[in-house]
Amino acid sequence: MYSLIATVSAKYLEILEVFEMQGDIEEILVSRETMRQKVKELGMQISRDYEGKDLILVCVLKGGFVFLADLMREITIPVDMDFISVSSYGNSTKTSGVVRIIKDIDINVANKHILIVEDLVDTGLTLRHLKELFNTRGPLSVKICTALDKPSRRKVDIEIEYKGVVIPDKFVVGYGLDYAGKYRNLPDVCTLSPKVYMD
Ligand code: IMP
Ligand code: MG
Repeated sequence: MYSLIATVSAKYLEILEVFEMQGDIEEILVSRETMRQKVKELGMQISRDYEGKDLILVCVLKGGFVFLADLMREITIPVDMDFISVSSYGNSTKTSGVVRIIKDIDINVANKHILIVEDLVDTGLTLRHLKELFNTRGPLSVKICTALDKPSRRKVDIEIEYKGVVIPDKFVVGYGLDYAGKYRNLPDVCTLSPKVYMD
């Protein structure tokens, strides 16, 4: 079993070889094929659930843009989209849950259905804040769609209506997610080698 996983992992790491960052990667946690399949399923589900409704996809920058680009092409009903960019107040090791809006959406969301598109739900603090914020603007509903979920890290109870893959408590990069601004362009969701943190 483990040797099979090791073989599969090695195969994927070979695929990653064209990336100069390949040496920084420990393992592939969620392959691009798995993501593709999950995104397809989510797209179908969203298309069914929102049929005949005015839907706006709100992507949380920067990490959510890869997921949004894939997801929207699996959605078969008309949708509008917008972007929001946020950052946590204070230092990054102690999340306060209060987020600063760096770029707000431009669309008027009153009487529309909002689906927040996020790369990963960790403590849940960012999304709780965003949900509260959007709810003050008179939408018909505010729901959440995330590519990845790390439930073991949750600090606040938050409902996630659409989720891709549940992952363990490991720091991941790729598929839009970064470490110090890098690795967003890796096609798979990967864990980093400890040497990257230690350097
Ligand atoms: P939280 O749910 O408010 O704690 O914040 C989640 C955000 O933190 C995610 O949208 C990511 O942008 C970032 N984040 C959390 N865990 C990771 C990770 O493992 N790798 C990269 N970014 C992460
Ligand atoms: Mg994010």
